[in-house]
Amino acid sequence: MNEVSTIGVFTSGGDAPGMNACIRSVVRTASLRGYPIKGIRRGYEGMIDGDIVDLDGFAVSSIIQTGGTILKSARSDRFLSEEGRQKAAEQIQNAGIDGLIAIGGDGTLAGALVFHEEHHIPCVACPGTIDNDLFGTDETIGFDTAINTALASIDRIRDTADAHNRLFLIEVMGRDAGFIAAHSGLAGGAEMVLIPETDTDIAEVKTRIHKLMTEHRRSSIVVIAEGDELGGAGDIADAMRADEKFDDIELRVCILGHTQRGGAPTARDRVLASRLGKAAVDALISGEHGVMAGVLNNELVLTPFDVIRSQKKTINREIIELNEIIS
Ligand code: F6P
Repeated sequence: MNEVSTIGVFTSGGDAPGMNACIRSVVRTASLRGYPIKGIRRGYEGMIDGDIVDLDGFAVSSIIQTGGTILKSARSDRFLSEEGRQKAAEQIQNAGIDGLIAIGGDGTLAGALVFHEEHHIPCVACPGTIDNDLFGTDETIGFDTAINTALASIDRIRDTADAHNRLFLIEVMGRDAGFIAAHSGLAGGAEMVLIPETDTDIAEVKTRIHKLMTEHRRSSIVVIAEGDELGGAGDIADAMRADEKFDDIELRVCILGHTQRGGAPTARDRVLASRLGKAAVDALISGEHGVMAGVLNNELVLTPFDVIRSQKKTINREIIELNEIIS
């Protein structure tokens, strides 16, 4: 078992609200336990470049309430190569770091797994992504904030949709997963929710929405995950506009995009991030390596990287059915 003496923490991939709360928890727990802690800036990119700064408890004051990440983030193509990872390993060794805490999503975990296997540097991860698509935790850091941000927009759009008797197609983030769409759509009372996890038949979508718009309601909202197999909101709008029965229906598209990534984290995300940051440090210093800290049924759990990477987190069927029944 490799003993850890100096910890390096970094955020990688798409930023998520609550990453700062997690950094704060990691830094303060490590400091309290007597471990020097360094911040690696810009994720794996900064690791390769040796962009590393000293941190202490004061450096993370007044960040629990902020979105983004004080350590910056990046998506790194260089880290995909053995050469890039070799350079990263040398840089962290030069900085005296012998234990890592990675905060990020699927790509970050993939990088951590291969790095851990190749270079045997002790590493523990915290799940940070608005997408919520990581096995081993009920929720990822940033998901709760993202769905509340999307919900605030959906509520606003509902007002204007009602005022003009319009149909709105609202696209939310989620390249490979429909968690944001399923949850914000349910909470926002969307008339339909389209997600990659369920087969979407465009003919059925058009028939249902047309019926709603002409026979029952005066406005409708369809929430679409960007990764739906039919495409995003723009593609679905094109399919509707090409159908003459939609000629008299006023249709608008709204893509919420990166608004969902920013903003102050919710209390729920701050608490989750704080719990996971501390759990990750404690795991690292007690010799539990190659694992991700998560919360399942309100219990802290550690799950090996290879299990996280090989298992797909599924959306609760009940949420999907609920959307179908009460929308
Ligand atoms: O993985 C988080 C995420 O926000 C996805 O939902 C989205 O598809 C992607 O990142 C966008 O990435 P980028 O900011 O690099 O364009």
